[in-house]
Amino acid sequence: MRKLIVEGGRPLSGSVTISGAKNAVLPLIAATILADGTSVIHDVPHLSDVGTMNELMKFLGAHCSFEGSSLHIDTTGLRGDKEAPGELVRKMRASFLVMGPLLARRGYVRMSLPGGCAIGARPIDLHLKGFEAMGAEINMGRGYVEAKVRRALKGNRIYLDFPSVGATENLMMAASLAEGTTLIGNAAQEPEIIDLANLLSVMGARIKGAGTSIIRIEGVKQLKAAQHTVIPDRIEAGSYMIFAAAAGGTVRLNNVIPEHMQPLIAKLREAGVKVACGDDCAIVESDGMLEPVAVKTLPYPGFPTDMQAQMMALLTRARGTSLVTETVFENRFMHAEELRKMGADITVDGHTATVNGVSRLHGAAVSATDLRAGAALITAALMAEGRSEIGELQHIERGYERIVEKLQGIGADVYIHED
Ligand code: EPZ
Repeated sequence: MRKLIVEGGRPLSGSVTISGAKNAVLPLIAATILADGTSVIHDVPHLSDVGTMNELMKFLGAHCSFEGSSLHIDTTGLRGDKEAPGELVRKMRASFLVMGPLLARRGYVRMSLPGGCAIGARPIDLHLKGFEAMGAEINMGRGYVEAKVRRALKGNRIYLDFPSVGATENLMMAASLAEGTTLIGNAAQEPEIIDLANLLSVMGARIKGAGTSIIRIEGVKQLKAAQHTVIPDRIEAGSYMIFAAAAGGTVRLNNVIPEHMQPLIAKLREAGVKVACGDDCAIVESDGMLEPVAVKTLPYPGFPTDMQAQMMALLTRARGTSLVTETVFENRFMHAEELRKMGADITVDGHTATVNGVSRLHGAAVSATDLRAGAALITAALMAEGRSEIGELQHIERGYERIVEKLQGIGADVYIHED
């Protein structure tokens, strides 16, 4: 089994370049289904999740090929009348983002249910309610869901009970080819929604309000293939900011959009970390001494749930007691148990974790339970005295391109060990 070995206690220095955003690229790939021809997405990270999405697209009849970090997607041969293989959809929930585009283009789609994962049940009720509002007939089978519409989807007013990122993306894509106008109320406002709206607009869609809680989509008859450069990954960037804050030292991050990272930057500054921002870069400086803070995750523009685990790890060595509240997912504290193995003092009570800062952490053998929990374990291992071994690396490699090379590039003593 492959493990990440981390020798902790060393400050970091140097600069790291952030890759394109995983959570923007996945819906962008799905959006290319809406047009025939070859679309090109630039600055695409080589991640296993992107590979899974490309596998799904190939299964549907599209052809995906990388030229460097540019992904060429030819949808000329797209069929979409076959049910995506269950193991693909279960492996990656974002597979479900092809549902809206296929329903809009083919009038029919059958998908295995994405199923839950370590951080929660991950239902899709908001996606399906939106498709029904646009005239689709939904049939739930044993482990699969089918959607069909007689002629074309019809624009409608849709209100999301929760500002779901995936539901907003799926419905925005479906509405782009519907007859009439769709209004999505209580829409997600994440930067990845704006990035998707930007690609759809270049393809010919008529979208207003992306990035606000009300998005207006005027359906058009046809969309055309297009080119687009994906935004930088604000969660990868945030993770490297926390690595630097944890280990101490000075690290420069290139290819970031600081405006997308304000909640995290504010919290890091509150904890005593120096963060200086340029137009497309940021410099993090820390002596490793941290003040306790209270963190509550919320939909954008609140503090991102995808940074909660890393922040909790950082606070395990703050000078006092911090509170971490998770409001987006129902079970996203799995990393607490692993952090305790390194000497952290964390008590979880429902949606809130109390983190009593300790003076030192010690290296241990731990396992990543999900993508961001893996980043949290790296954070703690960089602070800990001695060696840590982090297993279940496949979770980390879903969302962190060339993470060993990037960490080594800023002076971390890390390497992969094969058993
Ligand atoms: C996206 O997942 C991200 N993934 C997640 O990042 C991120 O944590 C999440 O948004 C929240 O920001 C991608 O973009 C590929 P949601 P998504 O629909 O779209 C509930 C990572 O680490 N909900 O906004 O699946 C749901 O159960 C991943 O990169 C419903 O109840 O998230 C959850 O509690 C993890 N019904 C909450 O909403 C629905 O129909 C947020 O889910 C849909 C969602």
